[in-house]
Amino acid sequence: MSTREIIIVSHNSHLSSADPSGWDQLFNTYQEVGIAESSGRHRLNKRRSVLRLVPKGRTGAEIGVFTGLFAPILAEVCKPKKLFLVDPWDKLHGSHFPNWGAYTNHVRVPTAGAQQAAAIRAKEMDCDCEVVKEFSTEWLKSLSPNALDWVYLDASHKFEDVVADLKHIDTILSDDGIILGDDCWISNNGQVGEIYNALYAFCEHEEYALLHLDEYGQWAIKRKRDIVSRR
Ligand SMILES: C[S@@+](CC[C@H](N)C(=O)[O-])C[C@H]1O[C@@H](n2cnc3c(N)ncnc32)[C@H](O)[C@@H]1O
Repeated sequence: MSTREIIIVSHNSHLSSADPSGWDQLFNTYQEVGIAESSGRHRLNKRRSVLRLVPKGRTGAEIGVFTGLFAPILAEVCKPKKLFLVDPWDKLHGSHFPNWGAYTNHVRVPTAGAQQAAAIRAKEMDCDCEVVKEFSTEWLKSLSPNALDWVYLDASHKFEDVVADLKHIDTILSDDGIILGDDCWISNNGQVGEIYNALYAFCEHEEYALLHLDEYGQWAIKRKRDIVSRR
């Protein structure tokens, strides 16, 4: 059974209960959240492999959260001491996300519903998890050096925004920290997307190197000086 299916079963299992966690109320109020989560192409289990590189028991962040679908997998695999879930939700999109096609099953998901889903998931996690409604840049600028040991970056996918996010992460990432993320695609004819170009540009200028890139769009980069070579 896929994780997506497990999540759906978990949602349904709350329908007949007293809804202590709030899933009932959420899906009744914001049907589009359920539609987007159950039908979109979220590739949850296929995105696990890159997480093996994340050091366990440390402080991490998912930047770009949407409804928080991937956050429980980050918590399960990376076992963070502290996990931040950062997204501006309505501060960026207003009342509804844009129609993101198949990803949201062509519905416009209410930002309040997405944020509420992320908050419920944060409460259900075993680790200390904090939901932050903020833009990546503003939040990263508010942190002290060494504040984060890893970041799963899945926010804006525009070249300039990704490079800016990576530069800000670099200023607060611990010495042996690692940056990972989603949606780095290379087409069958070798054409690359904006995230690939952003990673390439950033690594070239900032002394980082690619550690992982897979067919599910997952990537990881690390400072060159912290990459251990096997002899
Ligand atoms: C593809 S979705 C994230 C999906 C989520 N990581 C998952 O795996 O289920 C992209 C998210 O990035 C958020 N986002 C866009 N610009 C952002 C920014 N500047 N800072 C933080 N999040 C941002 C959007 O609001 C949206 O929720």
